[in-house]
Amino acid sequence: MADLVQARGVVKSFTTGGVVTPVLRGTDLAVAEGELLMLVGPSGCGKTTLLSVIAGTLDLEGGEVTVLGTRLDTLAPAARTRFRCRNLGFVFQAFNLIPALTVVENIAIPALLNGLRPAEAQAKARVLAERVGLGHRSDHLPTQLSGGQQQRVAIARALVHDPALVVCDEPTSTLDHHTGDDIMALLREVAVRPGRALVVVTHDSRIFPYADRIARMDDGIITGVETPPRTP
Ligand SMILES: Nc1ncnc2c1ncn2[C@@H]1O[C@H](COP(=O)(O)OP(=O)(O)OP(=O)(O)O)[C@@H](O)[C@H]1O
Ligand SMILES: [Mg+2]
Repeated sequence: MADLVQARGVVKSFTTGGVVTPVLRGTDLAVAEGELLMLVGPSGCGKTTLLSVIAGTLDLEGGEVTVLGTRLDTLAPAARTRFRCRNLGFVFQAFNLIPALTVVENIAIPALLNGLRPAEAQAKARVLAERVGLGHRSDHLPTQLSGGQQQRVAIARALVHDPALVVCDEPTSTLDHHTGDDIMALLREVAVRPGRALVVVTHDSRIFPYADRIARMDDGIITGVETPPRTP
């Protein structure tokens, strides 16, 4: 099967107060079409950084990143933004909900950015709010929700525009086991299909069985890729 994501020899460091922290040191990762790949590794090893590189929100210092056949690292900034807007769904480690907007309005944002009329975007957002178990909270503000409920809003928002690639940073960290299972089943159903792929960063070993492959990362390098024992 073709690769939907190919990261090759990625180099990325951060400089703060004159101190350079090398994070990605020639990192390679491929994600196949129709696959759910989980990325695991110790805190600070570079998982979020690699996810940001794949999602085209960080510039590289070396290497290349190709998503859906498009080289993201050489794309002009405006074209990269358009590409992301159309093709990518994100669930950030900090949910990044907009406090002044309701649940449905937050979920609808990517659909609006893709040119859907507001009524159409909100209708799609309402369906997804139901799907993540928040139908009864659709018109609430994020501050009126629990952490787990906010996380479910963030997940619905990543799916509303039917993106080909969904990347999730710790999507089940604040959810109980039962809700985590529901969310992983929904993510698999919506985001793992022919021509699509899902990358999930997680510390939550309870959801490993949902992965097609698990990539282990240490100190900025992928140290191994394995197939988990069973897929539900
Ligand atoms: N914007 C930034 N500026 C400076 N340093 C950063 C920045 N983002 C990340 N880092 C550093 O890069 C390293 C990797 O961070 P990253 O967030 O990718 O780790 P992670 O594997 O996602 O960790 P966690 O499991 O705790 O979320 C860390 O040492 C972190 O301090
Ligand atoms: Mg992280």
